[in-house]
Amino acid sequence: MPNTFPPDFVWGTATAAHQVEGGNWNNDWWAWEHTPDSGVAEPSGDACDQWERWPEDLDMLAGLGFGAYRFSVEWSRVEPEDGEFSLAALDHYRRICAGCRDRGVEPIVTLHHFTTPRWVAHAGGWSESTTADLFARYAERVAGALGDLVDRVCTINEPNWLVTNGFYLGTWPPGVRDRDAAKRATEIVVSAHRKAVDAVRSQSPRTAVGLAVSMSDIQAEPDSPGAESRRDQIRRVMEDTWLDATTGDDFLGVQVYTRILVGPDGMLPYEDGARLTLMGYEFYPEALEACLRRAWEVTKIPLLVTENGIGTSDDSERIEYVERALRGVQRCLADGIDVRGYLYWSLLDNFEWSYGYGPTFGLVAVDRATQQRHVKDSARWLGEVARTRQLP
Ligand code: GCO
Repeated sequence: MPNTFPPDFVWGTATAAHQVEGGNWNNDWWAWEHTPDSGVAEPSGDACDQWERWPEDLDMLAGLGFGAYRFSVEWSRVEPEDGEFSLAALDHYRRICAGCRDRGVEPIVTLHHFTTPRWVAHAGGWSESTTADLFARYAERVAGALGDLVDRVCTINEPNWLVTNGFYLGTWPPGVRDRDAAKRATEIVVSAHRKAVDAVRSQSPRTAVGLAVSMSDIQAEPDSPGAESRRDQIRRVMEDTWLDATTGDDFLGVQVYTRILVGPDGMLPYEDGARLTLMGYEFYPEALEACLRRAWEVTKIPLLVTENGIGTSDDSERIEYVERALRGVQRCLADGIDVRGYLYWSLLDNFEWSYGYGPTFGLVAVDRATQQRHVKDSARWLGEVARTRQLP
């Protein structure tokens, strides 16, 4: 099997506004972080101050050898109140896109990465069908402002977790725990995606649009009656609903971290002694290959790995994880699966939602007191892979 990746294979890293910009006070997550008993370890606060430091971060990632940078536009900055669009915020994100292009880096924009403006949340958020239209209006404005600089847009990041955590488990905003509310939110988020695809295309027909779906290698317990049907049921709710929603899209963003084991009654605990990451996920880089194969089987649209990475304090473990994950990508490519690129999550150690700043995913460490960036060996290693288009 060839060790080289295609010449046009995209290599990059990813972040999200609320996790790196700092000061995103006008969205539901900031409010959630300051809600008693929300379970959030610490507030996002200044995050990585990337609202100010983005030129330095673009210099760094371009210098490492990456050709793409996925980041999200913060809806609450662009539209701080209903119908009030900030030209200054749109121009800020346009400067980032232009800054990417000036450095030979492709900007890949996510329109919604878990955070929703407070005014939208107060008007019902993802339990209110009109939110799909509000999101499409926002998508249209952003596409109009950035479309000439952006080749790929992800409408919504991990809608499966946006809905499951927010409306079924109640662990994320709005903290609802209701199966029917989760089903309704699913319908509304799917509608929002479809409307946003049309909105982006109306402003920038040349821009490819897709959905960034979280997937896991969901494995049925061997020789366990009922395990396979339970696996399929979990896949239907957690993945297939969202994979089906990508019909007509230009690409599918695949986001993978680990595998989960399923018995007849649902998810099983990892085996005693299983190797775990800082997130409590099993260390299982081969999950990426399994999910790419399944995503291709279900959708047959071009795939882009929009997130893959590991929360670990051991950078050599990060290199081991990524190398094994990329060997799986090579196997997929060798079998004719249309994988367009790999974006490592994340460029920076950043705000990991309810976990706070504990789980470190970054290729680059950030001193929480000084905001100084410290490039890790894994960043140099992956940058070299990107430059040479082959694994060591
Ligand atoms: C997600 C998000 C990222 C996370 C990353 C690590 O998948 O939850 O897209 O915001 O930080 O996945 O958990």
